[in-house]
Amino acid sequence: MQITGQTKIVGIIGDPIKHSRSPQIHNAAIAALGLDYVYVPFHVQPDNLGAAIEGFKAINLVGINVTIPHKQSVMPHLNEISREAILIGAVNTLIFNEEEIIGENTDAPGFLQAMREAGLEVPQGGSAVVIGAGGSARAVVVALSLAGVRTIFIANRTVSRAVALAENLSEKIGVSIYGIGLDDPKLPNAVGTSQLIVNTASASMEVAHPLLIDPAWLEPQSIVYDIVYTPPETRLLQAAVERGCHTIGGLGMLVHQGAIAFEKWTGVYPPVEAMRQALQGAFDQK
Ligand SMILES: NC(=O)c1ccc[n+]([C@@H]2O[C@H](COP(=O)([O-])OP(=O)(O)OC[C@H]3O[C@@H](n4cnc5c(N)ncnc54)[C@H](OP(=O)(O)O)[C@@H]3O)[C@@H](O)[C@H]2O)c1
Repeated sequence: MQITGQTKIVGIIGDPIKHSRSPQIHNAAIAALGLDYVYVPFHVQPDNLGAAIEGFKAINLVGINVTIPHKQSVMPHLNEISREAILIGAVNTLIFNEEEIIGENTDAPGFLQAMREAGLEVPQGGSAVVIGAGGSARAVVVALSLAGVRTIFIANRTVSRAVALAENLSEKIGVSIYGIGLDDPKLPNAVGTSQLIVNTASASMEVAHPLLIDPAWLEPQSIVYDIVYTPPETRLLQAAVERGCHTIGGLGMLVHQGAIAFEKWTGVYPPVEAMRQALQGAFDQK
């Protein structure tokens, strides 16, 4: 990589930031395309967020990814925020456009793009179950609602979070969304009659953790999507394969949410295979 006076800068802000794998993923795409860009991680503490944004504007930076803890607090600093990001309540991508800063959230389109890449279709007019009610569940529910799913059950360990998320989003999006507990007697039937089951609960990261749903509830041919990417094939996905379901893990979503941001900054959809390999290399280094 040759940095010159014309090299354009993109990057990521967060606190902490040193564990982010985004620099490897994006710089691999930049190298594969031979673009005159560089992707840099910036450690920005909460008190310095406003100053950092002003500084980025002053140096004509092209774009920034935003990670924890700035995904909400960055919003008042922006001139325009996409509808998806407003519904999700978080911004993960900034585009610096002359004097304007536009905020977007690429998690929802990244989630959908990974499904398309795997040849799987969102059940338009059908129903889905989303397990978990945290930040990523919010992005998934928004993605599915805007993609045409009619009924969504959010099943979460803490019922009140599922109910609050369902009420908040169904009011704004006009889709039937129900919040229930993982022990709710309606859950087996919801899982059995839904064409798509999405896990967003981080319990999937722990291989010894009991499964949050009984695989016997799954209808063969339904799609089971676990957005957790460590491990790449979770125990839920293994059980779903045994039931004859179509399965998809979280690595594709991770790569595509980055790829969509990359395209917004450079105008080019990057080679996702190069990004995937860089991500794999970053995992192997840990
Ligand atoms: N593939 C991707 O691109 C992508 C993107 C974003 C996130 N992720 C992954 O998705 C996972 C969740 O991220 P997040 O940002 O949504 O996290 P979060 O906001 O902290 O939410 C965590 C969710 O997991 C549930 N949970 C945690 N431990 C549990 C347990 N032992 N039993 C049952 N439920 C449990 C929580 O339930 P309570 O409400 O009851 O605590 C909550 O619903 C992480 O593993 C993250 O790496 C992947």
